[in-house]
Amino acid sequence: MKKINKPDQNPNDLPKGNRYDQKAKIIWFTGLSGAGKTTLSKRIYAALTKQGFLVQLLDGDVIRNGLNSDLGFSEVDRFENIRRIAEVSRLFLDSGIICINSFISPTTKIRTMAKGIIGADNYIEVYVNASLSVCEKRDIKGLYKKARLGEIKNFTGIDAPFEPPENPDIEVNTDKLSINEATIKVLNILLPQITI
Ligand code: ADX
Repeated sequence: MKKINKPDQNPNDLPKGNRYDQKAKIIWFTGLSGAGKTTLSKRIYAALTKQGFLVQLLDGDVIRNGLNSDLGFSEVDRFENIRRIAEVSRLFLDSGIICINSFISPTTKIRTMAKGIIGADNYIEVYVNASLSVCEKRDIKGLYKKARLGEIKNFTGIDAPFEPPENPDIEVNTDKLSINEATIKVLNILLPQITI
């Protein structure tokens, strides 16, 4: 297949990524459903905003109710889900905005694709790690129960795969750390990377 080079849509040579006194990055939260991605990403969003950073937050449940409401949870649909998210967050990045993405993003293939769209230099991977048994015990949305009963198919960790990231930039174990401790750990590693 002929490789098409994507045109750069930046209309002139404006400096990318540091328009707002910050280094724009994509902070990509990955982990099982119930691991704490949404809680943690909201905390990080709030902390960065309070410190004057310009931040956007994209979250699985929200995006799947809007932009990606046409997609399900097959391997192909998850790939397309993450491809669109990566493209959208790339637009924020090019505008100089820090973007926090919170999606299961279950496989190495999917995360590698996202990183390819965003660019390795701008992609910070945060693995929100909690064991399947802990996530299932929490079962905040009642989805694990439904998955076990066969009422939901292709549920991550039950009858669809989750491949833990091998080399995340940051890893937080939410079954060992409190939410405050996890937030501080992420911020400590993150802040030097987004500060000019
Ligand atoms: S991803 O795999 O494509 O990255 P995404 O993060 O967008 O998933 O959406 C995950 C959310 O969708 C979960 O937090 C959960 O609330 C809901 N959900 C519904 N069905 C499934 C399913 N089969 N597998 C995982 N999550 C599901």
